Amino acid sequence: MTSTPSSQDFDFDPLSADFAADPYRVYAALRDSGQPYYYAPEDTWMCTGYKQVRALTLDPSMLRSVEGLFSETELRELQIKGGMHDMPFHERYVQHNMLDLEGPQHDRQRKLVFRDFTPALVETQRPYIQALIDRLLQPLRDRQSFDFVGDFAAHLPGHVIGHILGVPEDDCALLRAWSEAVVSYYNVGRTLTQKQRAEQAAKDFCLYLEDMIAERRRQPRDDLMSRLVEHERAGRTNCEETISLAMLILMAGHGSTIDVLGSGLHSLLRFPEQHQRLRDDPSLMRSAVHEMFRFESPLPYFHRFATQDCQIAGRSFPRGTRFGLLYGAANRDPEQFEQADQFDVGRQPVRHIAFGGGAHFCLGNHLARLDMELVFGTLNQRFSAIELTEAPSYKRGLSVRGPKSLQITARPA
Ligand code: HEM
Repeated sequence: MTSTPSSQDFDFDPLSADFAADPYRVYAALRDSGQPYYYAPEDTWMCTGYKQVRALTLDPSMLRSVEGLFSETELRELQIKGGMHDMPFHERYVQHNMLDLEGPQHDRQRKLVFRDFTPALVETQRPYIQALIDRLLQPLRDRQSFDFVGDFAAHLPGHVIGHILGVPEDDCALLRAWSEAVVSYYNVGRTLTQKQRAEQAAKDFCLYLEDMIAERRRQPRDDLMSRLVEHERAGRTNCEETISLAMLILMAGHGSTIDVLGSGLHSLLRFPEQHQRLRDDPSLMRSAVHEMFRFESPLPYFHRFATQDCQIAGRSFPRGTRFGLLYGAANRDPEQFEQADQFDVGRQPVRHIAFGGGAHFCLGNHLARLDMELVFGTLNQRFSAIELTEAPSYKRGLSVRGPKSLQITARPA
């Protein structure tokens, strides 16, 4: 069988309000078909089963980047087709950052980040993160009724990663706005306005980082940015790579951690018996946080290109085919997870793939999990009861998953 795209009788509309309200019903139907599903607007074959998605992340012939796979002209055509052209800053610093490199170039940059941004370094941030959580929660304890996403979560992850890199606290809100504008352009159904915003944000971000890097060259400090600059001085990276790496680190886990903080609390509130179980046994926090990532994976969609002809689920696909890795769907696969649609804070082991797998496995997973563990531990200590005051609506699209806001009342303990 060959892989000519067919119009399949399937209601897959990732931009719809219905999909945002409950993507899991659609994911289940896609998984049940056992076949990749062709989604024409992205010219992409969507894969949803856990085993299939995981195998794609581990397959060395499946790459994020198409460079080397196509001629310059074909690459340009692909870029234009995807609307990724005519945006010089985005092309230079975002589209070619480490996440979209492969082979030796990727390995070299990944090793450098891995060497500096270690679990041990993340662990040293514990007191800073705890103090920040306490500071953000203090006024909310008095208010008792607030938006957990807008009033709290939105102010945490960017400040933490900014602190690690050495960004002054007052500038962190700017970085959040730029990150959101750049990342949102990767969602399906992108518009020209989003494109202009993404390019402007990439430019502003780049100019900001250039100044910061120049300052660290003059006067190194004890921060991650100074270490990146030191790699550049020693010839291990160049100036362009320093900017794009810093931008990637600042953007990669920013919105996604905000989203999973919101969906994580929402899950606890939707399953109050699980929330109580966690309150009664705080030693479950580690598995509870992993379960939050599995249950509502905040970055549910990435892609790979086949670098050779291949077979998936008995079907042939030519070299150059683009596959969608629907991590959010794979993480609800009942063949992999017992009672996959049940939120279970004690689930062991939680072998989810919310952080991807293989060569591009997330480098920031320790930091995202530490943020989450400290937030939910603190919430459980400081508030004796938390309730939803209105049902949240989730963001539309395929690339992100998180509530736009989460209105709650929280009674201080
Ligand atoms: C909610 C939190 C997060 C989630 C769900 C998440 C998820 C992911 C996923 C799925 C990938 C692999 C993409 C693919 O398969 O194509 C990835 C890569 C990456 N993540 Fe995260 N991430 C999170 C937080 C962070 C944080 C906090 C940082 C850094 C501060 C970070 C840095 C990175 C980097 C640098 C890569 C690229 C790795 C490479 O290409 O080798 N992430 N992340």
